[in-house]
Amino acid sequence: MTAIVLLGPPGAGKGTVAEVLVEKGFAHVSTGDLLREQIRLETPLGLEAKKSMDQGRFVSDEIVVSMIRDLLQGSECNARFLFDGFPRTLVQAEKLDELIRSFEGSLDAVLLLECPDQTIIDRLSGRRTCISCGAVYHVEYKPSSAGGRCAVDGGELVQRPDDQPETIMKRLEVYAEQTEPLIEYYQVRNLIHSIDAAQSIPKVRNAVFEQLG
Ligand code: AP5
Repeated sequence: MTAIVLLGPPGAGKGTVAEVLVEKGFAHVSTGDLLREQIRLETPLGLEAKKSMDQGRFVSDEIVVSMIRDLLQGSECNARFLFDGFPRTLVQAEKLDELIRSFEGSLDAVLLLECPDQTIIDRLSGRRTCISCGAVYHVEYKPSSAGGRCAVDGGELVQRPDDQPETIMKRLEVYAEQTEPLIEYYQVRNLIHSIDAAQSIPKVRNAVFEQLG
């Protein structure tokens, strides 16, 4: 098993980059998507997670790590994982290392998407998500070709509850406090590949391909 981590602030474009890497054979694992699925199914885990997510705070390390452990245990040994939004705390990073070791796998790279706060606010305020398939659009930068509906399945396009202005600010604060220390954690192991994520979507995509060789 091999893995790549996508690191970066909320709205930097991690999910958008993941879309192109999936085409290259990576198995996309977004803890945000996994948690939103639990919320949709109204499981006890989902109801617990929703309280934190709606306020822009992190879900507990225990919940998130156990989701990842379950997923890895059921995976094939030659899988190539792309972790999006995980790890987000030092505890999660250490647990990921332990898990990878236990599967005799390797963490090959950490792509750091760098983006200024004002760009992030602009992106998250204009993001729209399909209520049925989860496809992600932006009213200006990535509009749906089907107008106000999803171009994939015609679903309704909605704004995520945590994309409200106060919640965006809280998420940025939590990222700076709890996730930024991971940059140093991975830098000392020479795993960080920095990408200027403030560029257009095609330019970011090319930069990612260049970094991954
Ligand atoms: P999660 O869903 O992971 O949210 P996030 O990290 O805040 O990231 P986003 O999904 O908001 O943004 P993104 O970087 O993927 O950007 P996107 O590609 O959509 O997590 C949500 C919550 O779940 C967390 O707050 C937390 O509560 C909980 N959680 C999740 N993981 C957890 C963990 N490990 N531990 C604890 N709690 C956890 O792009 C954004 C918009 O910009 C889109 O509209 C897109 O079309 C547009 N866009 C993208 N790139 C560009 C570009 N280059 N130019 C112009 N527009 C662009």
